[in-house]
Amino acid sequence: MLVHGSSTHNDTLSRPQPPLPPIEFRKLVCGDDALFDLNDGSPFVQLTDPDQYASVFDFGCGCGRFARQLLNQANRPKRYVGIDIHRGMIQWCQDNLSTIEPAFQFCHHDVWNLGLGPDNTRQSVAAFPVGSAEFRLVNAHSVFTHLTKEQTEFYLAEISRILAADGVARTTWFLFDRTTFPMLFDFQVTLFINEVDPSNAVIYDWQWLLETMCKSGLRVSDTVPPAQRGFEWELYLRKSSSGEPHEFPADAQSHLKLSGSGTRFEPLGDKSHSGESSPALSEEPPDELFRANAARSGHLLRFTGDLSAEEFRARCSELPFWYHSYYFENGFCVRGDYDIGADVDAYDFPPSMEGMKVLDIGTGAGWFAIYFEQLGADVVSVDARGYCDFDMYGRHFYPPIETENRPPDRFDEDQLPIYYSPVSRGFWTMKDILGAKVGFKNSRVYDINPALFGGEKFDLVFLGAILCHLRDPIGALMAARSVCRHRVIASTPVVLGETGPDVLPRQYLPYTNDDRISWWLPNEACFRHWFLAAGFTGVDVSRQVNLRCDVLRSEEGRPLNGEQTLRVGSAFVP
Ligand SMILES: C[S@@+](CC[C@H](N)C(=O)[O-])C[C@H]1O[C@@H](n2cnc3c(N)ncnc32)[C@H](O)[C@@H]1O
Repeated sequence: MLVHGSSTHNDTLSRPQPPLPPIEFRKLVCGDDALFDLNDGSPFVQLTDPDQYASVFDFGCGCGRFARQLLNQANRPKRYVGIDIHRGMIQWCQDNLSTIEPAFQFCHHDVWNLGLGPDNTRQSVAAFPVGSAEFRLVNAHSVFTHLTKEQTEFYLAEISRILAADGVARTTWFLFDRTTFPMLFDFQVTLFINEVDPSNAVIYDWQWLLETMCKSGLRVSDTVPPAQRGFEWELYLRKSSSGEPHEFPADAQSHLKLSGSGTRFEPLGDKSHSGESSPALSEEPPDELFRANAARSGHLLRFTGDLSAEEFRARCSELPFWYHSYYFENGFCVRGDYDIGADVDAYDFPPSMEGMKVLDIGTGAGWFAIYFEQLGADVVSVDARGYCDFDMYGRHFYPPIETENRPPDRFDEDQLPIYYSPVSRGFWTMKDILGAKVGFKNSRVYDINPALFGGEKFDLVFLGAILCHLRDPIGALMAARSVCRHRVIASTPVVLGETGPDVLPRQYLPYTNDDRISWWLPNEACFRHWFLAAGFTGVDVSRQVNLRCDVLRSEEGRPLNGEQTLRVGSAFVP
């Protein structure tokens, strides 16, 4: 454990004080000149074991700010090695600090950087010039705040290498909460602020960082959040091979100190967590799930059931989570992953569906199906029976339902077995509550054909946020086409920044490691071609809709949902 604070050591005041570095160097390393004031001889950071100061490695020592304090403190290190990429500052330290104490060595770290090492060798990393397990204290102050992801991975491993078994590393970081940056791919974990010199400031996704520290054999043993949101976090690291959890705060107040945090209202879970398993970002007390946000605007469904508020809550509480939020005119609501009603106008559905037959493929918790029915449509919805019907990356077959080892979840009016997909239980609960007529078929999307509906075809077929979960989106649209007599509407995320008439159709396969049920991310042109390839005409993919996250959910530190922008494609049967 570390003690943050200071005590007085007057016995050191008689020593000759190390000189002040020149103003041009002081300006290069920090804006606040007062930080170069020498302390009263007490340690810079108080460690419970003062012997920790015996051997110190200072990564990014600059013009000796930390070294000067160490020279001045009561228990002066027996060995100090400072490295920095700035040749001039290292030369000054050698000339002015090593001369006071030869046990203090300064080495130029020959790694290229636009601002501080433009004449250095064009390499992004270099090994520390010291042996393994030699240091009981490593300091890296405002260093990782300037390093790229690859450099950080390399230097965390180096710190792990040079730390003694009982050593501690003091590191500082800019951290952000990536759940509020849903447009980032899994591998994008850093934010930059300067396009000319990205090393100006680098902000790290805190969860990625904790995982990377684990991989380097390090664990956070103590954390000091910044006084103000967005400023530097102090993380103290120790060697660990046992997978012991990080001492990183899980309380809401501390998380509000992350950049990008606090943009939503949900309280944070209070479990402690490790790099391998982090707490749910939001574990709402059940009450919150039934309390509508007064500021919310958007479509309200009609409550056509006869349950009391109490009974409604009790029925809805039977589900562990709701994929769709349901907000009703009578004030009832149950909040889920996504509040579709808030942005439903952007889909451009017909304002009345009186007399229309509508098919909702991949209905999930059924919000769209109920909405279509309340607009006057005769609706049927389709969903998978479970993971056996899903397209799982790396699985080369569809296992029979028996492998899921569960009895049917219910039977329909024809006594046919019905199985819930991971999200479609909500459909059935809400259909029962509201007394909705909407029909339902269990089917894999590719197996949809007229016979499934007794030869019936639909005026409108909707595929909401399902194409991205399919290995063969064109095959799915062909299946939809086989039962569509007029129009199909489908929403899916598209890759950002690839618009314009000259851009070739391209699709990317970005998520395969952690999320095995997410597949293609097309560019706009490719999304259009999916419809054309499946035999539709009059394709328009220009509409954009916000998939609004209502209640954040996460599992083992990975967000399970998040705000997204979807493209809405509309096309016609010729
Ligand atoms: C992301 S949810 C979208 C729910 C709803 N359509 C919406 O837009 O909010 C995807 C739905 O597709 C279903 N699904 C996924 N793969 C499927 C498949 N191969 N066949 C049928 N349904 C599938 C899931 O069970 C889930 O209900």
